Amino acid sequence: MQHILITGGAGFIGSHVVRHFVKKYTGSTIVNVDKLTYAGNLLNLTDIEQEKNYHFVKGDIVDGDFVFSLFEKHQPDTVIHLAAESHVDRSIANPMAFVHTNVLGTVNLLNAARHHWKDEPDDKRFYHISTDEVYGSLGDEGLFTEETPYDPRSPYSASKASSDHFVRAYWHTYGLPVVLSNCSNNYGPNQFPEKLIPLFIHNIIQKKPLPVYGKGENVRDWLYVEDHAVAIDAIVRNGKLGETYNIGGHNEWKNIDLIRLLCKIMDEKLGRNPGTSEGLITYVKDRAGHDLRYAIDASKVKDELGWVPSVTFEEGVSKTVDWYLANDEWLRQVTSGDYMQYYREQYEER
Ligand code: NAD
Ligand code: DAU
Repeated sequence: MQHILITGGAGFIGSHVVRHFVKKYTGSTIVNVDKLTYAGNLLNLTDIEQEKNYHFVKGDIVDGDFVFSLFEKHQPDTVIHLAAESHVDRSIANPMAFVHTNVLGTVNLLNAARHHWKDEPDDKRFYHISTDEVYGSLGDEGLFTEETPYDPRSPYSASKASSDHFVRAYWHTYGLPVVLSNCSNNYGPNQFPEKLIPLFIHNIIQKKPLPVYGKGENVRDWLYVEDHAVAIDAIVRNGKLGETYNIGGHNEWKNIDLIRLLCKIMDEKLGRNPGTSEGLITYVKDRAGHDLRYAIDASKVKDELGWVPSVTFEEGVSKTVDWYLANDEWLRQVTSGDYMQYYREQYEER
């Protein structure tokens, strides 16, 4: 891994991955390519932006010519592909953006890698980061394994499933050296306040209603984002070509239980009376096609690569809340501009 290209490195998970690689692989160059959509923010990387082995390129992976020129200029031997439209609610409102970035953007990257690596495919690696949502929705029992058939049910998960299929097709058809992972819900610092945990932290600070979809009975498996970055590091180095690794936190929470825990922690940290934040809980119209439960069997990545999560949920939530309370300027910046328009459209009608 001499020249590592990371896509979507200004986003939530991407910024933690970029930081991890820049700090750990000081002898490698790390190029972060990001369009800087509403979800991408260079403020996420101010602590490492001056490092000699780090370079940022603003660009759109949907633009095939741009992607080819990027490969031409930086000659990556390793691609870690995270750039995506990532929010399920936005995919319900506007599916086409997800087709463009998640499907076309991924195929552009695959084409560029295939072209540039055709003479020397050895020691190259195209790592595609995907989601557990491609497996569909579980009932009360069972876990997603790498063998679970795909059953995507939202435009977001359908676009990610499509991109996963293209990545595997390039392995089988052209022998492109690929590896994939499918991860559960991440949380932690720098997550855009449209996703459950940062949205609710933001609303609790502002004493705004906490919009719980349906009855709050949906279950997600939560993983601290820095643990995901460590798993990505293990998989890109030692994952078997052509294979997929499921990554999860062994940490299932029913939404309403998680929200109550968050309310309790925030009341303590904000010095508010117990129960203050719970009083903000408001049940609203359910998300269309809302998947009931996701849960990951992460035994393959543990058995083959020795990866297990290291941050407990209590510790991770506490660190996350502390980060948002200490970074009110970050929160203010990302919630100015288009955010209020999005918020009105997403929640006022519910
Ligand atoms: P994010 O929305 O926070 O960040 C996405 C980044 O991609 C942003 O920086 C954005 O500017 C960039 N981007 C979007 N369109 C682009 C384009 N056309 N060209 C270049 N850059 C573009 O997303 P995230 O939550 O950090 O997720 C990162 C990846 O991990 C995604 O592929 C997502 O599907 C996957 N994933 C996320 C989770 C999760 O819980 N957040 C879990 C499993 C997998
Ligand atoms: O499982 C991995 C996926 O996790 C990633 O691939 C996605 O990129 C990521 O966004 C996340 O998807 P979810 O839909 O699970 O995450 P979200 O934070 O949007 O919602 C978590 C749960 O909380 C879900 O059951 C819906 C519910 N929810 C969410 C919001 C935003 C609410 O009840 N109210 C809300 O306002």
